[in-house]
Amino acid sequence: MRSKIVAGNWKMNLSEKEAKELCKEVNNMNIGSEIEVYIFPPMLYVSDCKALSSKVKVGAQNAYPKDSGAYTGEVSMWQLKEAGIDAVLIGHSERREYFGEDHSFLKQKLDSAIAHGITPFFCCGEPLEIRQNGTFLSYVKNQLEESVFHLSATEFEKVVLAYEPIWAIGTGQTATAEQAEEMHAAIRSWVEEKYGKELAGKTSVLYGGSCNPGNAQALFACENVDGGLIGGASLKAADFSVLVAER
Ligand code: G3H
Repeated sequence: MRSKIVAGNWKMNLSEKEAKELCKEVNNMNIGSEIEVYIFPPMLYVSDCKALSSKVKVGAQNAYPKDSGAYTGEVSMWQLKEAGIDAVLIGHSERREYFGEDHSFLKQKLDSAIAHGITPFFCCGEPLEIRQNGTFLSYVKNQLEESVFHLSATEFEKVVLAYEPIWAIGTGQTATAEQAEEMHAAIRSWVEEKYGKELAGKTSVLYGGSCNPGNAQALFACENVDGGLIGGASLKAADFSVLVAER
């Protein structure tokens, strides 16, 4: 069976004190043995959170694909591994949009994460105009083909996928359960075409985009939705604990 995952992406929020407090609160949540909980704090707090967490896995929101060198301001996958970090986000729409990260760069990041034993959470998802013109399935398939499907099966089995429709991120306008399930089922079918039924059945595909205590139950009940990548609702322990319980 595939892993059920609830992951909080704190983005560029919280003071160090707030981050440590929230990390402790998440660690104290009632986390069932059947689910995995991750948090992705700002890079500055990653090691603090790692030190505070026993039940919770800690990831980085970003990392650079080269191991070391003159790349001012960057942190490498190799350095994350040395710091005991478990996972990294790759392909988040905010990195694609604000930092110009393209398919080829994301492919390099994915390769580096896998080479260093860091679990990559690869994000995909379409903007509003693509949703509206009806080409959203081929748009997302192309994102996977360009950056992910070059992996061997042994490499791909380390990857967690996250479908995040851009029009739903931080907007309060979540995808309906039907919209999410349509995309998640399609993603699983493409994984099956590429890697076979067994691996497709083991691949966790998370939903992200205005997921909150009011809509999580319907989304998480979908056959092909294996959990959530949560932004805003992960910043409040009360909300995040409901999502962890729903999953
Ligand atoms: O990584 C998380 C997603 O961007 C979702 O963010 O829950 O604030 O919409 P959101």
